[in-house]
Amino acid sequence: MFSSRWEQHLALELLLLLHLFLATTIQGHSKQIAISGSNVSLQISNLPADYKILTWLYTSEQKIVEHWNADKPHYFESTFKHRVVLNLSTGALNIYKVQKEDSSTYLLRVVKAAGNEEEWKIPLEVFDPVPKPRINITTTQEVNNGCYLNIACEIPDQSVNYTWYGESGPFPRAPQSAVLEVTVGPQNYSKFYTCQVSNPVSSENDTVYFTSPCEQAISSGVAWIATWLAITVPTVFGLLWT
Ligand SMILES: *[C@@H]1O[C@H](CO)[C@@H](O)[C@H](O)[C@H]1NC(C)=O
Ligand SMILES: *[C@@H]1O[C@H](CO)[C@@H](O)[C@H](O)[C@H]1NC(C)=O
Ligand SMILES: *[C@@H]1O[C@H](CO)[C@@H](O)[C@H](O)[C@H]1NC(C)=O
Ligand SMILES: *[C@@H]1O[C@H](CO)[C@@H](O)[C@H](O)[C@H]1NC(C)=O
Ligand SMILES: *[C@@H]1O[C@H](CO)[C@@H](O)[C@H](O)[C@H]1NC(C)=O
Ligand SMILES: *[C@@H]1O[C@H](CO)[C@@H](O)[C@H](O)[C@H]1NC(C)=O
Repeated sequence: MFSSRWEQHLALELLLLLHLFLATTIQGHSKQIAISGSNVSLQISNLPADYKILTWLYTSEQKIVEHWNADKPHYFESTFKHRVVLNLSTGALNIYKVQKEDSSTYLLRVVKAAGNEEEWKIPLEVFDPVPKPRINITTTQEVNNGCYLNIACEIPDQSVNYTWYGESGPFPRAPQSAVLEVTVGPQNYSKFYTCQVSNPVSSENDTVYFTSPCEQAISSGVAWIATWLAITVPTVFGLLWT
């Protein structure tokens, strides 16, 4: 196609030049974390003063709002339509009542007066609060003088981290493990085991109690009823007899 090396070289240079001219400057942003139901403001600190077009996108295909200088912003048909507001002075996108599905890397595209485009990537991750876990003592097995314990921390399927605590602090283990497996003796058993589940926005826990390496303490709820009966029954009988 090209008659000489020189022409090839020229063509390549032209291509490079064209590429540079059309190139978009892309800037990253640190991830924003939010709890479901809260209001979030996505923004950049240095919005170019006189832009021609400003566009917020959910993904590279889905536009949320577009603003042509001097016009009113146009909100596109999307799940965001009635819960976003563009702040015209800062370019901030305010989203009301965020949901897990709003998690994405948002894009802010600005076509500047000079014609070149700048793009910012702004990641948002929305979490539901974690549910309260329930400890299930799967195995208690006497071994020699001690006890082998296998206890599981159960929650409906969710992305969480688990931390297990005993009397002497956290058990060193992978935060992804919902199961605590320990062998304890009379000297080093813990009077309680707590499972804490957490994500970046919330944390919940449950605790089981032990009176000896292998023996679970009567749960506080049952203990309370027992106390109540112990007090109430004699009182009722006392009243009946008077
Ligand atoms: C979110 O914004 C709306 C409207 O400004 C306000 O009524 C509501 O209280 C805000 N919610 C939270 C959780 O701040
Ligand atoms: C835009 O954001 C600025 C700075 O946070 C705030 O002072 C102003 O009230 C906002 N304007 C609107 C219309 O919300
Ligand atoms: C406890 O875990 C065992 C084994 O995984 C399971 O079969 C049992 O249903 C669980 N118990 C409760 C109360 O969830
Ligand atoms: C408790 O002590 C026994 C030895 O008595 C040991 O085998 C076991 O690993 C210890 N357990 C913990 C959780 O430290
Ligand atoms: C779990 O912990 C790791 C390490 O601390 C952290 O990077 C990750 O975001 C946590 N995941 C959740 C769901 O909290
Ligand atoms: C467990 O939750 C209670 C509140 O429900 C809190 O006071 C306590 O600090 C939590 N414990 C752990 C180990 O997370």
